[in-house]
Amino acid sequence: MHDRTILITGCSSGIGLCCAHGLGAHGWRVFATARKPADVERLAAEGLESLPLDLADPASLNAAVDEILARSGGRLDALFNNGAYGQPGAVEDLTREALREQFETNVLGWHELTRRVLPVMRRQGHGRIVYNSSVLGFVALRYRGAYTASKYAIEGLADTLRLELRGTGIHVSLVEPGPIESRFRANAFLAYRRNIDAAHSVHREAYLRMEQRLGKQGPAVPFTLPPEAVLKKLVHAIESPRPRPRYYVTFPTYLFGTLKRLLPTRLLDRLLYRV
Ligand SMILES: NC(=O)c1ccc[n+]([C@@H]2O[C@H](COP(=O)([O-])OP(=O)(O)OC[C@H]3O[C@@H](n4cnc5c(N)ncnc54)[C@H](OP(=O)(O)O)[C@@H]3O)[C@@H](O)[C@H]2O)c1
Repeated sequence: MHDRTILITGCSSGIGLCCAHGLGAHGWRVFATARKPADVERLAAEGLESLPLDLADPASLNAAVDEILARSGGRLDALFNNGAYGQPGAVEDLTREALREQFETNVLGWHELTRRVLPVMRRQGHGRIVYNSSVLGFVALRYRGAYTASKYAIEGLADTLRLELRGTGIHVSLVEPGPIESRFRANAFLAYRRNIDAAHSVHREAYLRMEQRLGKQGPAVPFTLPPEAVLKKLVHAIESPRPRPRYYVTFPTYLFGTLKRLLPTRLLDRLLYRV
């Protein structure tokens, strides 16, 4: 039954957790990874094959890949680059360190992991690499500059890799969700508290409004979908004989994807400023 293997990062909650269980039920052998030992144990108790993997720590990342390849006999059919967080804050309040941290996890960790699995997929002559980007991978919103920059960077790497892998049997897809129910906002609130000096910022009034949004329970914006909406696109990206380069998820992604193609930047800015 378990003939197809996938490695997923960031399975402690949200989209990663949902996709790990969902693909397991779909007949995949899922290597569900998380960075905190307690989460790895919890995932195992839930019946998942779990391992520790911290994207910001190359030693942890490499140990996880070694272990997975040892268990799978050196094979891996798919990689879902998913584990990430949002660093809120105005661009002018982002320290070099906060931006570096954001890129360590959201971009460099994903890149290093992708580089580790590519030789395996080339040897096999097939593979699927799926990047969980965002609507913020192609439009920007105020106070989300670090996260937006990280997702734009991922889009650049994925789009280039897709061209470079043409004809190899390895397919690269981007999933671009809008708002999805998960722990994303709660985790972003932690990053905000850790790295943004709101009291001394010219943006402090906007931060008060942002704090209310980040602290809100349940969906903070309309058109929020459950993580199963992402699972559906992921299944297509890894199972279809013709995976798409891009998968939009949620109405806001379709809307802004269309507007980005139609509107001049100045007009699009006017709309994005109001969000
Ligand atoms: N929710 C949305 O509205 C939305 C929209 C568009 C795109 N996305 C993307 O969806 C993906 C999953 O996010 P989510 O919505 O499911 O949020 P989430 O519930 O906060 O899950 C994020 C996962 O990433 C993990 N993570 C964070 N830093 C990590 C690191 N250094 N190494 C390994 N794992 C790490 C988290 O682990 P910990 O529990 O240890 O922090 C958690 O398991 C992200 O790439 C995000 O950018 C989400």
